[in-house]
Amino acid sequence: MDHSRRGFLTAVGATGGAGALLATMGALGLAPTAEAAARTAFDPPRPSDFTLTGRGAKKVVVLGAGVAGLATAYELGKAGYDCTVLEALDRVGGRNWTIRGGDRITELNGSTQVARFSDGIYMNAGPARLAQWMVTMDYCRELGVPLEVFTNSNAQAYIFNESAGMTAPVAWRTAKADVYGYISELLSTATDSGALDAKLTAQDKDRLITFLRGFGSIGTKAAGFAYTGTEHRGYSVNPGAGEQPGTILGPVPSLSEVLASGVGQRFSFEFGYEQAMLMFQPAGGMDAIPKAFARAVGKDRIRLRSVVTKITDLPDGVEVEYQDKDGRTRKIKADFCVAAMPPHILAKTPHNLGPDVQAALATPTVTSSGKIGLEYRRRWWETDENIYGGITNTDLDLSVMWYPSYGYGQRRGLVIGYYNNGANQDAYAALSHPEREKRAVAQGVKIHGAKYRDELATSVSVSWRLQPHIEGAWVGWPSRTGGYQLLNKPAGHVHFAGDWLSYLIAWQAGALESARKTVTDLHTRVLTH
Ligand code: ALA
Repeated sequence: MDHSRRGFLTAVGATGGAGALLATMGALGLAPTAEAAARTAFDPPRPSDFTLTGRGAKKVVVLGAGVAGLATAYELGKAGYDCTVLEALDRVGGRNWTIRGGDRITELNGSTQVARFSDGIYMNAGPARLAQWMVTMDYCRELGVPLEVFTNSNAQAYIFNESAGMTAPVAWRTAKADVYGYISELLSTATDSGALDAKLTAQDKDRLITFLRGFGSIGTKAAGFAYTGTEHRGYSVNPGAGEQPGTILGPVPSLSEVLASGVGQRFSFEFGYEQAMLMFQPAGGMDAIPKAFARAVGKDRIRLRSVVTKITDLPDGVEVEYQDKDGRTRKIKADFCVAAMPPHILAKTPHNLGPDVQAALATPTVTSSGKIGLEYRRRWWETDENIYGGITNTDLDLSVMWYPSYGYGQRRGLVIGYYNNGANQDAYAALSHPEREKRAVAQGVKIHGAKYRDELATSVSVSWRLQPHIEGAWVGWPSRTGGYQLLNKPAGHVHFAGDWLSYLIAWQAGALESARKTVTDLHTRVLTH
């Protein structure tokens, strides 16, 4: 900041008090205000803001080196705060965990897997996709994390609803052609017959039918607007050279069969604000994000294998007790604490923050989720089925199957064989890893046939409820009043941060937005006291 602006602010501060000073700084874009917080672009605290207080750098202890904790330390560090991050695991990232060959997966029941993945193969056990509008994209830019497209929907991937009586998977493109085709036929017929005259003018009717003829690829009025299947379904023999026009995939199921299959109920996934394409992933693994944060924070500020055992708010700060990597009990004192651990783990940690905070921490319900990563000797989904990334959706207990959005055309590849939640995940979590693999493969064979078993090289499974110091995939609040609001405010010198304090639960963006809110609150507090 130049001297004239600083002088002006000092004068405002002298006459108007700290509140006026902060408000004026906010107007100049120098300090957080409610209005500034509402802007899309983040204006992180800067050292210049801090020195305006005329005090030394505040000490902050951050609990948890997940995405929220790392972003907190990163943003506060920019403003000159002296941060120390305590992390229970021997790696940063929390649920942002990329597993590669040689990595060890230990579950709370003591079982251990060692990943035997080939070079270049990785599995994002936690977050695996970023929406374009999410703040995560901005941090990737800021931290220099290279991105590539993550294919979240693919016309060539499948839908398979076994309970609806389907005996073979249907490609998304085929399912859409049939559902859109029949809906278009029905709506065109109803429109043309006058059934919708109360809603539509003559011109509306013409325009609607014109739209439906293209959308559903249906016949003319003379042909009764009939849907008979077109190239939207795909081909059983692709178009080629010379006399090879291709053979459109058939036979076309009846309207009744299409409705009974339930395939149309899958389509809305693609419309969701959080899930619509394009989506992105860091090249080489999602953990590029926490690794970049950790570098920016400074590795010397992050204490791994340090398990928080007690949080004590003090009249003038906070004391955190933890067990270090050698099993020794240690204490750290700071001016403030940002607790960026899962709420259900904080709820098990002794503290003196009061019964309301304790009740709030114990309120959210924990969701089960997990994945199995199946490495195949051959990328048969590409070579045999022309599927290059994307997701197959099923009512089998797998829920989804993900084809890799990296390494196209290489020899080996890794398919996510299931990514399921709730009861489906609990059923897999209760099994040993070899049993999980056996069950997942037996289900997958129903979709892809025997090669799904025969070509398998090795696998790894992660059940988030069984991961030490994490014990869950994400949480849900019964409402965003009460406990949620309480924990979005500090308790003494302890502030909280995490995706669980946002409207973007189960997204890294939620953790990042929460970290921004918390550092803004903390910094505002420091500036105004
Ligand atoms: N955000 C998580 C996902 O996209 C739940 O799968």
